[in-house]
Amino acid sequence: MRRTLIAGNWKMNPLPEDADQLMGSLSGLKVQDGREVVIFPPSLYLRQAVAQLRESGFSIGAQNVYAAPKGAYTGEVSAEMVAACGARYCLVGHSERRMYFHEDGEMLSAKVGAALRSGLIPICCIGEPQEERAHKTYEAYLYTQLKAMLQGRSVEEVRQIVVAYEPIWAIGTGDAMKVREVKVMAEFLRNTLEVMFPGVLEDVRILYGGSVSASNAQEILLTPHVDGVLVGGASLKFEEFRRILDCEVNHGEN
Ligand code: PGA
Repeated sequence: MRRTLIAGNWKMNPLPEDADQLMGSLSGLKVQDGREVVIFPPSLYLRQAVAQLRESGFSIGAQNVYAAPKGAYTGEVSAEMVAACGARYCLVGHSERRMYFHEDGEMLSAKVGAALRSGLIPICCIGEPQEERAHKTYEAYLYTQLKAMLQGRSVEEVRQIVVAYEPIWAIGTGDAMKVREVKVMAEFLRNTLEVMFPGVLEDVRILYGGSVSASNAQEILLTPHVDGVLVGGASLKFEEFRRILDCEVNHGEN
């Protein structure tokens, strides 16, 4: 049975005082049994988040890691450092990293490898732009993204990873994908992963991301093949995120 994962990606928000307040509010909650909730604050707040949210059962993750373990890479943070701070997860290949920081397949596969070597679970983000959807070429596009990112991985490693499907046109737009399409996409990705890495079908977790809110989360979390959600904007609003955390989930049933 796959454990449902609800993730909150804070992106480059908020300032320290507001981060204190948000963490303070979250620390008053208790993560329900049978699910995992992961907060992805800016790396600057990682240790604080680990310390403050552990008791309440939250896991913490980094929004990005660099592939090398240490050295002369000014401005970067390694997977090893993130793991040593007590984090359990990292995002890899978020569309904003691909777009603004030109992260390509080769770099992303190195980051996935570095995360796994450091004991972090990578959440591998993929998603097509609007044009690929309009031209109905999104399946090939997503296949290429997955293949590049998971290059060189073993079946055992792929069993541990999480895939977050986030169509780019749905991110931050308020225009989430229709639930019936989310189901089709999650099933397609699960089957594609099974073809690439036979034996992972039952274990690999697939999340949906892109304008998840308190009003659509319930439906998405009960969608077959969907093992959770990656929430951006709505994870910064405590009340809204709390309502998402209160949703019923489908407990890894297909
Ligand atoms: P959004 O962001 O929920 O604000 O659309 C999702 C993401 O980028 O992970």
